[in-house]
Amino acid sequence: MTAAALEIEDVAVWFGGVHAVDGVSLSIAPGAVVGLIGPNGSGKTTLLDAISGQTSPTRGTVRLDGQDVTGRLPEARAKLGVVRSFQDCRLFPELSVEEVLLVSEDVRRRVGVLSTTLHTPWARRAERAKRAAVADVIGAFGLDRYRNHRIQELSTGTRRVVDLAAIVLASPRLLLLDEPTAGIAQREAEAFVPLLRRIHDVTGATIVLVEHDVPMVFALSTQVVVMETGKVASSGTPEAVMKDPAAVAAYLGASPEALARSGRLSGDD
Ligand SMILES: Nc1ncnc2c1ncn2[C@@H]1O[C@H](COP(=O)(O)OP(=O)(O)OP(=O)(O)O)[C@@H](O)[C@H]1O
Ligand SMILES: [Mg+2]
Repeated sequence: MTAAALEIEDVAVWFGGVHAVDGVSLSIAPGAVVGLIGPNGSGKTTLLDAISGQTSPTRGTVRLDGQDVTGRLPEARAKLGVVRSFQDCRLFPELSVEEVLLVSEDVRRRVGVLSTTLHTPWARRAERAKRAAVADVIGAFGLDRYRNHRIQELSTGTRRVVDLAAIVLASPRLLLLDEPTAGIAQREAEAFVPLLRRIHDVTGATIVLVEHDVPMVFALSTQVVVMETGKVASSGTPEAVMKDPAAVAAYLGASPEALARSGRLSGDD
């Protein structure tokens, strides 16, 4: 698995008179971790939608590894390794953690239903490999003690960890994460910094992370992009963006405390 290169050229997404994304160009290197921040309604989720294919842009081009995928369906992009999480994702509440992960593996591999039903040797081997992969992520994400807990019994934070574990099972080459810590208590959210680092290490994927948690974004990202009313207000290394008056005016000025904390956070581990 190699990380994907992503190129966004002059992408605009208009909903009637609303210019949700309005001429965004970004070049994202394989393996980069890009933090996408900005005020509510600045177009972050819509830009992720244009990258994953959930929405088709009014104009502009999305390229994966140099290949134009602008007109491709989400399923076609998923085959190229584009995996995304959704804001407020809901997992199957009745299933156990292990079952949910086994199901997500099934969805990815689309293990031939017929051969599974017939219990052919190939299907048994595939089943064993699947269980081993699920056992691996359960261990890697510290979910052992929740293995047999139903999703509905978990805290929001733990549910998000399960969500991320399921994403890793999909072997992403380009991972699009929309507010993985939304609605989670600060203490739990802090655990996501090492967790997302691990995901980056394990998958090697290029990551675009939308987050309102500014310290987390600055701690994790190799590149930070600040959006404002559908446009890129500032883009660059975390150090450069932190000092950019345009970034401060667009968004960061609203959270000086958060920025101060981010200085400390990025010094960690
Ligand atoms: N399907 C849609 N139809 C019409 N307008 C939309 C649609 N989706 C988004 N918008 C509008 O586009 C703008 C950008 O929305 P978007 O959800 O991309 O912002 P965001 O940066 O993700 O915000 P948040 O931080 O609140 O999640 C907003 O004005 C929103 O109301
Ligand atoms: Mg959003």
